[in-house]
Amino acid sequence: MLKYAFLTLLTTLFFVSHAYKIGAIFREKEDAHIEAALRYTVEWLTQRGIYGDIDVVIEYIEVLDHYDALKKACKMIEKDHVVALFGGSHPALNAQLERLTDELDIPLLTSIDDLENSQGFSKIDFWPRAELFEAIVDLFEHWKWTRIVLVYEEDIRIRRLEKLLESEKYSHIKFYLIKVDNKDYLKAAKQVKELEECRVLQKRDCSEFSRILVDMNPEHTYNFLLASLQMGLIELKHWYLLTNMELEFMDMELFRYNHARFISPHPIDDNFITEYRDTFNFTYFKEHVSSKWAIKTENNKNLKIMEAVFTFDAVFAFANIFNTLSGEMQMNDTPQTMCRKRDRNSRKYQHGRRIIDNIVGNELHGLSGDLRRLKRDTISLYQRMPDKRKIG
Ligand SMILES: *[C@@H]1O[C@H](CO)[C@@H](O)[C@H](O)[C@H]1NC(C)=O
Repeated sequence: MLKYAFLTLLTTLFFVSHAYKIGAIFREKEDAHIEAALRYTVEWLTQRGIYGDIDVVIEYIEVLDHYDALKKACKMIEKDHVVALFGGSHPALNAQLERLTDELDIPLLTSIDDLENSQGFSKIDFWPRAELFEAIVDLFEHWKWTRIVLVYEEDIRIRRLEKLLESEKYSHIKFYLIKVDNKDYLKAAKQVKELEECRVLQKRDCSEFSRILVDMNPEHTYNFLLASLQMGLIELKHWYLLTNMELEFMDMELFRYNHARFISPHPIDDNFITEYRDTFNFTYFKEHVSSKWAIKTENNKNLKIMEAVFTFDAVFAFANIFNTLSGEMQMNDTPQTMCRKRDRNSRKYQHGRRIIDNIVGNELHGLSGDLRRLKRDTISLYQRMPDKRKIG
């Protein structure tokens, strides 16, 4: 009896010292893939038993109500004592949460293309923005492209490419910008065709317009490719470089027989998949995320699996860092974090700064490869057609 009690006590102690909660504020439909990835990864880590006892607290907001989101986040922080927050797929909502987490030193982990870099102190972004554009630019160099048609839809995306377009280093490359207006993809494809047929340019400026950089989300990219097919632009001399990273998961059936080339950055690390093959099945992960998404959104076409992949890595990195730190220092005390209220000031999470700094300075490798937030070296590229292979 005594022995039994002793064992129980030991087990309890072990778990207590490593039990922690992470929180998320989601929109039930739009963030279904991120939620699926978050829950899956926590389950996966818990089963492996070396990352402590992680609990997930999720609150939904009905509409885009920033006040409601902040109220729910504060409740999670004060009542549930969460030690980190995960953002969803809405940039403005993440920015709102970030103002709160900046004040409280709560790590805010995000995995989407927020389009603009934040200046904050608590947000750690797992979407490899800088690396993506470096990879793209490296391709221009490698293939010695000199004329590139850039098709985009949102102005904010062009602003982020501006540095590239105006850089001295690429002054030998001529960029032609085509903006999709009012979802008129056919008109945009027609403009590409006109460029190629020299209808709008000087003769000397218009040979071989066959390198097309498509900077749009997966659904819009697909629409544009369909329009391009209609305009006869999907054929041998055309290369499409897609920034959306979802090429592997897009339905490319219609474009199979036209010999055009489709390429996209593809940050999936085969070494990770091999290393964890006994417990982690990437095919299953993708199917799981897709099916949760399909159920919640009634088969919406704009699923971004890579956001689920980066969510996996965000959770993986957080659990690794938190677990290491709590072994090194006394971190099993309850978070004392308090939001600002009318009658009192806020109180920071006592270990927050340390955790944030350690995640930012991490040296980990995850499913998407090198997870260092300060300096990632490589990102692999993926060619889907004419043949399927990894390049560069
Ligand atoms: C991985 O998951 C897929 C889809 O669920 C399944 O078909 C496959 O057999 C699994 N592979 C392994 C090695 O378990």
